[in-house]
Parts: sequence; structure tokens; C-alpha cells
Amino acid sequence: MCSLKNLFVSIIFFNILRLDLCANLNSKIIMKDAKEKYRFLITGGYRPKIDNLAKYIVSIRRKKYTWFFGDDHYCGGSIISPKVILSAAHCVCRGDSRIELKPLRPSDILVVAGTPRRLVVTEKTQALKVDKVICHAYYDPETMHNDIALLLLIKNIYEDGVSAQRISLQTSSLPPHTKCTLLGWGQIFTMGPLPDLILHTDIYIMSNEFCKEKDDDYFFGMMCATDEDDFEKDSCSGDSGGPLICNGSVAGIVSYGYGCALPDMPSYYTNVSSYRDWIRKNGLDKLRPVNFILLIVLQICITKD
Ligand SMILES: *[C@@H]1O[C@H](CO)[C@@H](O)[C@H](O)[C@H]1NC(C)=O
Ligand SMILES: *[C@@H]1O[C@H](CO)[C@@H](O)[C@H](O)[C@H]1NC(C)=O
Repeated sequence: MCSLKNLFVSIIFFNILRLDLCANLNSKIIMKDAKEKYRFLITGGYRPKIDNLAKYIVSIRRKKYTWFFGDDHYCGGSIISPKVILSAAHCVCRGDSRIELKPLRPSDILVVAGTPRRLVVTEKTQALKVDKVICHAYYDPETMHNDIALLLLIKNIYEDGVSAQRISLQTSSLPPHTKCTLLGWGQIFTMGPLPDLILHTDIYIMSNEFCKEKDDDYFFGMMCATDEDDFEKDSCSGDSGGPLICNGSVAGIVSYGYGCALPDMPSYYTNVSSYRDWIRKNGLDKLRPVNFILLIVLQICITKD
């Protein structure tokens, strides 16, 4: 009677193990010398008459504002499922994978969705608590490799398709010179103020050769983008973790740059396509509690036999 259940449990365990094994094989640690980089780090931005993209982004904040609502915004993120936010590891993870990588305490972070305004509470504003912070195990703050993290929310985001909506992950490979849109509440110029109303800017994916030439640390899982005719179009401090949207999907996560809006310098993004499996495994496909209960019930059954 229980042999069928035995088989069932074995299959479940096998699947869990296999997922973990694959994750370990796919990742590697590369050690590099320490090097100073600006941690974003939209300058040169515009505001579209009708904003069809702001519904995909959230503002990541500290748990408590200082003087007024939204003054604690420090990073962006993308809604990829009602319960999962995609962001950068440098926004929500501290320490070093070689020593100890520590996610921030979920209770120290607030996610705000549903509004293009940073400082105003509207009837569409959704303030969401975080249940779990998941850092890429091989995120390296010195080289910025694997700069990716997920926030699992306690409650679902209410998606109305207008003010809040999930965005799909980019799956196809994007050729250089693909035009993409960056959006965020980051500094409007270097060391400048953050805007209340979100800003957009259009930039282009650059070739791997170009990205590598401008930064020795360029590595698998990264991409870079700029507008060679207008270098002032760039991400800046406060845009980190937010989306670079190409062809309607999130293709990049704002990661780092050398200053903002410097001539002939692109800024660097985490290549979402490269981490599709990691995102699925750690966020979208997370074992639901009901599966755990099933597992326990089946184990009891086996022990009894
Ligand atoms: C852009 O999106 C359309 C429809 O979603 C798709 O048919 C097309 O292949 C995409 N192009 C690229 C370069 O991804
Ligand atoms: C992003 O990663 C995917 C999968 O690894 C790859 O096919 C694609 O060329 C990369 N994109 C860029 C712009 O490097």
C-alpha cells in the first residue's frame, strides 16, 4: 500500500536534490582584487505622457521614513509575480560570499508598489511587508558578479493591470543596439536630488566587447548599456535594483557604474536571461507550504510501515 507513496516521496526528494545540485554546478566564484565602484547608481530622463511601464516597478525602502513618506527610498525592483520582487543583491544583501553573505532582515525593508510617485500616498499605493530576502549565494560585492536578489512578500500585490502588474522575464538574446527603457527614482544628476515622479530614459544594449573594454570585471551574467550620442542618459544612485525593460520584458537589473553620466562610460546591469533558472528555482517555483505538509504526511506513513 505504501510502496506507491514511497515512490512518490523518492521522486519529490530527488527533485529537491537535483535542483540544489544543478545550482551548485552552475555557479562559480571568481576572486578579484578590491576595486572601487559606485553603488548605484536616471540622469537625463524624461516623463512620458502616458506611463505604461511604472506599473512594473516597486520602490524599496527602509522600514521607517525619517521626515516624510518616501524619503527612505533607496532602491528599485520589478514585480515578477504577485509575491516575488526581483532586485539587485547590493540593495538587500550585506557581506561577502567568501566570508558570510547576509540578507537584510525582512522586517527592515518595505516594498511600495502601485504608484509612479515616490512621496505621495495615493489610493493605489500598496505598502508590502517582506517575508524573505534571497541573495545569490555567489554575489561578490567587490566585482559585482551575480548582483541579483529576490524579495518574497508576505501578501500578494494586487495587480490591476494599470497601477501594478507583473512583468515577464526576457528570454531571448538581445542583439547590441537594442533600444531599452530604464526607469527609476534615482538621482536626477550626480549627487543631485531624487525625483518624486518616476523618470524614464532610453538607452541601448552594447556589445560584449565594448562592455569588457570599459571594465575588466565584465563577466558572465552582466550586460552594459548607454547612448553613445547622449551620455547624460544614465542610471544613478537610487536606481539600483530597478528594471531595464527591453521589448516589454525585464532584461536587466541596475547594478553599477563608474560615476553617473560620464562621457563614453556605459553602466552595468545584471543580465536577467542568464539567471532565469536561478529566478525560477528561488522565487517562482518555491515549494509551497502545502507541498511541505504533503511531504511530512508521506514520511509519517513510511515510518509507520
Ligand atoms: C519582441 O516581442 C515580440 C512580441 O512579444 C516578439 O514576437 C519578438 O520576437 C520580440 N523581439 C525580441 C528581439 O525579443
Ligand atoms: C544575457 O544572457 C543570455 C543567456 O546567458 C545570453 O544569451 C545573452 O547574449 C546575454 N545578453 C547580453 C546582452 O549579453
